[in-house]
Amino acid sequence: MHNNLTYGKIDDLFPKTGTVVIADDYFRASGRLEKWGCPVLWVHASEEAKTLETVAHLTARLLELQADRDTMLIGVGGGVTTDITGFVAAIYKRGLRFGLVPTTLLAQVDAALGGKNGVNFDRYKNMLGTFRPAEFVYIDTDFLTTLPLRQLRCGAAEMLKTFILADSKAYEAAVNVFRSEKPQVPQWLVRRAGEIKLALVEQDPEDHGVRQLLNLGHTFGHAIEKCAPQYEHGEAVAIGLVMAARMAVEKGLMDPAEATRIREDLQAIGLPTEPPVLEKDLRNAILQDKKRSGSRLRFVLPEHIGKATLWEESVTA
Ligand SMILES: NC(=O)c1ccc[n+]([C@@H]2O[C@H](COP(=O)([O-])OP(=O)(O)OC[C@H]3O[C@@H](n4cnc5c(N)ncnc54)[C@H](O)[C@@H]3O)[C@@H](O)[C@H]2O)c1
Repeated sequence: MHNNLTYGKIDDLFPKTGTVVIADDYFRASGRLEKWGCPVLWVHASEEAKTLETVAHLTARLLELQADRDTMLIGVGGGVTTDITGFVAAIYKRGLRFGLVPTTLLAQVDAALGGKNGVNFDRYKNMLGTFRPAEFVYIDTDFLTTLPLRQLRCGAAEMLKTFILADSKAYEAAVNVFRSEKPQVPQWLVRRAGEIKLALVEQDPEDHGVRQLLNLGHTFGHAIEKCAPQYEHGEAVAIGLVMAARMAVEKGLMDPAEATRIREDLQAIGLPTEPPVLEKDLRNAILQDKKRSGSRLRFVLPEHIGKATLWEESVTA
């Protein structure tokens, strides 16, 4: 499904006629994308702009450009832009071809891979969306050189999450990279995280089983984002990873020393590791979590760095 994942320099990508680029307006000043010679529709990359209004605006612009079923969309930007592009591509005239050029670490290791897209609705994140894999994903790690350290660390949280699921050596290498004040992210780590995610997606494209392992740290993380909006998603995931490891120790699944190691590693990278609110408030928020099915709640718990398991738990409201 995702054989067309390419790592290289973006300027080697020459879109053909009939292409429309949807790009993060961060790149507007660079003039770099216009060089391709195809129309560029700019989006403001923020959760507030990840809405149906933005989708309607892009739809109107595509109509003006007379985009039709033969048009190829290319989304260039972080996860907000790649999610919006995938969604527009899925619904405009019942579906256009599209490719993605993710430009944040989080989008390169996570958001642009796996075919999920969507926008927020009301208070709910990613409430409206579809599954529709990109025709290609083109990853140029040079983009990461301009990424603010906070954004880079958010991507690091998702990358480490992926490595906790499946690769202890890559985990260790990534921790060493991100401990630095100015991390230089090697392409092989970005590629390895992508491989692990896509292997899970290919086994379970619509997220009913093993793909849910990718939610490690996210049940707690989403609850933290609701209670403490000052945290970025990756930061909430980092705290969620620590809480999941703590829960795994309580359930006898994980050695306490391993949980301490995860907390200390995330701390050393500069990510937050302690929940900002009372456990009780988090628990209430978790009850609202859209992933709750019936009265059973599914957590992903790590067993050791390199392996995690799905864990179901009854909850009382
Ligand atoms: N579809 C999925 O499977 C999936 C998975 C994980 C996350 N997501 C979504 O991804 C989004 C978060 O992604 P994100 O963290 O990339 O956020 P983002 O798209 O908001 O980008 C973060 C910030 O970085 C800026 N930016 C982008 N590229 C840059 C660059 N190269 N240099 C400097 N600045 C740059 C953006 O303008 C923005 O201000 C969320 O909306 C989340 O729901 C989706």
